[in-house]
Amino acid sequence: MKVGIIGAGQVGSAAAYAVALSGAASDVVLIDRSEKLAVAQAQDILHATPFAAPVRVQAGAYSDLTGAGIIILTAGVNQKPGETRLELLDRNTAVFAEILPQVLAVTPNPILIVATNPVDVMTEVAQRVSGLPRHRCIGSGTILDTARYRALLADHLGVSPNSIHASVLGEHGDSEVLCWSSASIGTVPLASLAEQQGKPLDDVVKARIDHGVRRAAYTIIEGKGATWFGIGAGLARMVRAIARDERAVMTVSQVEDSIEGVGPVALSLPRILGADGILGTVMPILSPEEHALLRASAETLIRAAGRTP
Ligand code: 2OP
Repeated sequence: MKVGIIGAGQVGSAAAYAVALSGAASDVVLIDRSEKLAVAQAQDILHATPFAAPVRVQAGAYSDLTGAGIIILTAGVNQKPGETRLELLDRNTAVFAEILPQVLAVTPNPILIVATNPVDVMTEVAQRVSGLPRHRCIGSGTILDTARYRALLADHLGVSPNSIHASVLGEHGDSEVLCWSSASIGTVPLASLAEQQGKPLDDVVKARIDHGVRRAAYTIIEGKGATWFGIGAGLARMVRAIARDERAVMTVSQVEDSIEGVGPVALSLPRILGADGILGTVMPILSPEEHALLRASAETLIRAAGRTP
């Protein structure tokens, strides 16, 4: 599997590094408007491959995307301290309008993975501009928020995040919805396990975890200017699921005709990810409050895309 990554900044290079370390694909082509940056990142990552997996990593031009099955879009501006993801929309729409025709001229039917923020609206933009089927135009969405949620729950409960089944749905952004009602550790409901462990999830703990997930990007951006390791690992995980036709379930974004009675809108739900992109959606059982929050998140995204819910 050859993967093209457009944008060799922090997110693009972290994704390439994570793909290289995990061996999620055999070839990575990094493209950036600064060829010098792309070459430097590709060389640096290539030098890690003898310690990891035999992945070929190179900088390239659009013509080098021939045969690429997956294209990851990370190009665009990112948030400055205090800025929301939705404030980036106009600038990044123009970037996609420039990039996508050049990609599709070389590889006409790729799976697009969109990481550029605001990722849900940019997934809609990418789908519209590319004309690709919805299931092959996938936003990284809340894959990272779900990882943050699982990591914080794991820390509180003293169990591996790999054993925690919990999702963040809706917008990758301020209106996202942490699903508490259906979360489980193995087959045990989250609240029962928390009681068993003597670490109940009272309102204070829940508020702390909610804040830690919802505000994570703001905190990290204040501290180091941007986020890249978490999303890089998430993007590599998506690549692996597609490249190996794993049919693994992860919360990623896709355009839906209607969700909670409103649409069309791109947002995250747990999706089955395999060789043809999104193969299906695994809708969790939600509480009435979570349904209402998911609808509100969908409405936020529809407004952000310039429509009336
Ligand atoms: C993140 O959540 C900024 O969207 C990026 O880390």
